[in-house]
Amino acid sequence: MTPRIIATGSALPERIVTNDDLSRKMDTSDEWIRTRTGIRERRISEDDGKEKLLKLSVRAAEAAIAMAEADGAFSREEIGLVLVATCTPDMAFPAMACRLQDALSLPQVAAFDLSLACSGFLAALDTASAYIESGRCRTALVVGGDVMSRMLNWDDRNTAVLFGDGAGAVILSADERFIAACTGGNTAEEKSADEKAADAFRPRFALHSDGGGEAALYCKAMYFNENEPESEHMDGRKVFEFAVRKVPEVIGEVLRLAGTDAEDISLFVLHQANYRIIEAVAKRLKRPIEKFPHNIERCGNTTAGSMPILLDELNREGKLRRGDVLCLSGFGAGLSYGAAVLRW
Ligand code: ACO
Repeated sequence: MTPRIIATGSALPERIVTNDDLSRKMDTSDEWIRTRTGIRERRISEDDGKEKLLKLSVRAAEAAIAMAEADGAFSREEIGLVLVATCTPDMAFPAMACRLQDALSLPQVAAFDLSLACSGFLAALDTASAYIESGRCRTALVVGGDVMSRMLNWDDRNTAVLFGDGAGAVILSADERFIAACTGGNTAEEKSADEKAADAFRPRFALHSDGGGEAALYCKAMYFNENEPESEHMDGRKVFEFAVRKVPEVIGEVLRLAGTDAEDISLFVLHQANYRIIEAVAKRLKRPIEKFPHNIERCGNTTAGSMPILLDELNREGKLRRGDVLCLSGFGAGLSYGAAVLRW
């Protein structure tokens, strides 16, 4: 069965924090943040992270479910797998996915979280695709979201200015109608054409981790030291250099797997960590920057939320056309990196 994204949703906190707001709290400036990262503002949960990820995940998932239901051919009862990618869950357990399942009154199907920081959404999408392709389920709800503000050190200008809070959701479904609409027919020849089409429409994934990058990007589990809250540590330059080298490499790998070229990609939906990283990847792939949509200027780095939030914005703005071939790529702690090619 060939999985396809049939609906998207996203949710951001109400509160906008501008670069000028931050420069009143710490030794930084709008000019520094804008020119080094492209970020102008970000959304921060109320009470600096106490607003729960569950609240954002429910809003994002409900928006995706409503979009799928508007199509008339979908009911939430069909959801056969619930995945949440996050590194800032509200609780150590139960998993966010189980609590989301309860909040949305979903069937009693498999529900679990995946933790791979900024690459988390890609890992969850890969897992959901594998479930659908193997016939384990037909429809999956995949949420990526983080409330990074709860683990930031607001005195550390090196990291605090980079992140925002938010969640995005997609519904991935085995879509035989999509393939039938492109081919159709019952003869042996037509069936073989169907199979070829199914293969061409199959999403492809490449996911890696070098596993040795802990020193470049880490945050200890919160329970390690209650008296001294843990916060994120990052060697920004190292992560920057890693991203600029590895993202084009893994995109090349997944394009080869999909049997396609960078020229055939309608849009490259990259993890939103730094606009300069996006520019550098576009340059290395020799593709125009217009092919690389971005919302980092408004959202900052929303970690596992970044790709599904951007996908939802593009979808709702009518910028994704059926049949478009998209390339997604994420990178982050691990150091981990990955890419996907999928047909809209
Ligand atoms: N305001 C003003 N000055 C600052 C700020 C700030 N907010 N932050 C750092 N500086 C200073 C530094 O202290 C340094 O000063 P110094 O030269 O006196 O020591 C100077 O600015 C230059 O610092 P650089 O590291 O050279 O700045 P750079 O151009 O590399 O940009 C940045 C830094 C934006 C962090 C960049 O390296 C980057 O984006 N890296 C990738 C980050 C990333 O993708 N992280 C993913 C994490 S997501 C996850 O998986 C959880």
